[in-house]
Amino acid sequence: MARRWTNTLTHADVTPEAAFWNRRQIIAGMAGLGLASLAGGAEAQVSEEVLEPNSWEDVTSYCNFYEFGTGKGDPAAYAGRMTTSPWSVKIDGLVDRPGEYDFQQILGEMTVEERIYRFRCVEAWSMVVPWNGFELADLLNLAGVQEGAKYVAFETLYRPEEMPGTAYRVLDWPYREGLRLDEAMHPLTLMATGIFGKPLPNQNGAPLRLVVPWKYGFKSIKSVVRITLTDQEPPTSWNTANAGEYGFYSNVNPEVDHPRWSQATERRIGGGLFARREPTLMFNGYEAEVASLYDGMDLAKYY
Ligand code: MTE
Repeated sequence: MARRWTNTLTHADVTPEAAFWNRRQIIAGMAGLGLASLAGGAEAQVSEEVLEPNSWEDVTSYCNFYEFGTGKGDPAAYAGRMTTSPWSVKIDGLVDRPGEYDFQQILGEMTVEERIYRFRCVEAWSMVVPWNGFELADLLNLAGVQEGAKYVAFETLYRPEEMPGTAYRVLDWPYREGLRLDEAMHPLTLMATGIFGKPLPNQNGAPLRLVVPWKYGFKSIKSVVRITLTDQEPPTSWNTANAGEYGFYSNVNPEVDHPRWSQATERRIGGGLFARREPTLMFNGYEAEVASLYDGMDLAKYY
């Protein structure tokens, strides 16, 4: 059965607003980890609306998937032509059991659950998405991570005949991303296979895509066909395209601005034209879970 986010806060937890968001986010994460009971036995009194998911319409029509064009509506309009069955993921590099892993077989091995995560895009908008998926760590363990592995590299499908956006060299195709191994093994790091209890629509990265909730959305690579364990920091598409604007880490950090705009606030999609901007939280609100991964690192340098 899917583990659902449950509310354990009281009104005493809700001020100031930023602290409220922070605890909600943390507890949302903890619920995903099955640790909700550790958050305290307080009665549920706060309305659910704060972490209420965006609508299906918001999540599936306002997308970034440059293989289908750079407009927000392009993925919904054109990703339907991507063939997603059969689908396999090549897992190679520093693993005990390299090979082509059939997607249906992977699904059979994994525990799929629901996690409601806030999703913060580098363009300073955000959404709340109910993902269905399994922990990336479970998939990596299936392949058997070898001693010397330090990073995980990911690649998206590259099939120009089905992907009109790849005719333009806005990025170097295939789309590539990477994580440090400890980030990849973190229990918040999800391979999503669905949203709202349904299989992932193509525009959201069918049949499986990464979700790393404390990093900007572009780290969440879609339609993954290859995962490589390596001892070198892998090149990533956005860093290769513009290293000054997009670093390898890309942690959500209100104190480190994008060179062309502030990252201190965000606009929630679906909030309407006059919705107030909300303060962005360190590590997107997952600070308690992930800050220790970066102990001693200068996050302005490693952005
Ligand atoms: N993955 C691929 N393959 N191609 C892309 O263009 N865009 C990224 C990320 N993953 C992208 C991608 C960016 S910039 C964001 S914000 C998220 O996907 C958007 O995910 P969503 O459309 O499901 O909201």
